[in-house]
Amino acid sequence: MTTMMRAALLVGSLFVHKGLSQGLTTTTIPWVGSSTTSTTITPCTGPATVVIQTPLPVPTCPTPIKPTPCGVLPDCKAEGLNIDYYHNPVGGYSSGNVPSSYYITEGLTPLDSSLTNITFFPQDIAPINPERETNGGIIVNANNFTLVYSGFYRAPATGVFNICSSADNENDIFFGRGNAFNCGTGEPSPDEQPLVISRGGNYVNPDSCVDVYLVEGAYYPIRNVMGNWAGPSAFRFTIRAPNAQQPTNDFSGSVYPASCTWFF
Ligand SMILES: *[C@@H]1O[C@H](CO)[C@@H](O)[C@H](O)[C@H]1NC(C)=O
Ligand SMILES: *[C@@H]1O[C@H](CO)[C@@H](O)[C@H](O)[C@H]1NC(C)=O
Repeated sequence: MTTMMRAALLVGSLFVHKGLSQGLTTTTIPWVGSSTTSTTITPCTGPATVVIQTPLPVPTCPTPIKPTPCGVLPDCKAEGLNIDYYHNPVGGYSSGNVPSSYYITEGLTPLDSSLTNITFFPQDIAPINPERETNGGIIVNANNFTLVYSGFYRAPATGVFNICSSADNENDIFFGRGNAFNCGTGEPSPDEQPLVISRGGNYVNPDSCVDVYLVEGAYYPIRNVMGNWAGPSAFRFTIRAPNAQQPTNDFSGSVYPASCTWFF
């Protein structure tokens, strides 16, 4: 399709233009028919293209999900997200036989817990060390572990936010009231389905993303469940705020621990 045809398709009108060698002439005639057609005519002065497009093409923009925020304790401080390290005897959820909710349904107690503003640790390579550092100073068994990052994200603006993650081997993003956890109890439900699942391995960890519409100053519950099995691991969770140049995995000042949940 030529640029001119594309332009014509966007406007949904009749365009006539001559070849560039003759200079460009555009004639626009509103069209109210009911069919789409395209043809080329060759007037005496040289080639020209006629595009007739109707009805007007309405661009189909994906509607962003609108997660619901939670109320939080009024004196809450941006101390970071909770990061909890769990035993992972079964490997990556991407191995297919275990849902990422296993740590809830099995009632597991974290092996270690901390706070972090950072949701990134780099890919390590084989042959791996028996341990590796992740976030919040948490050191894990490099071969098999699950990390849960949970808490609140305070939206710094109103608009569409792009949320992404990549992982070796898997990260499940739960976001918003109910999906991440219950606003009243702070408890996650094993029945919730992740908004986005990222899977990787063999040093290839593609980003999986979702757009959400958030309101400035509201506190949105977040829960990332990241799992690794069989050696090398990597993780990144990012948010790109409206008008932000780049996505970020450093949430200093904008994330709050799950203990900010207001029991009311
Ligand atoms: C990882 O798996 C080994 C067995 O391969 C097991 O001994 C260890 O407890 C597991 N560690 C964690 C943190 O799940
Ligand atoms: C996160 O960032 C805030 C604001 O800079 C800071 O007060 C807090 O101590 C940080 N938390 C961690 C775990 O680094």
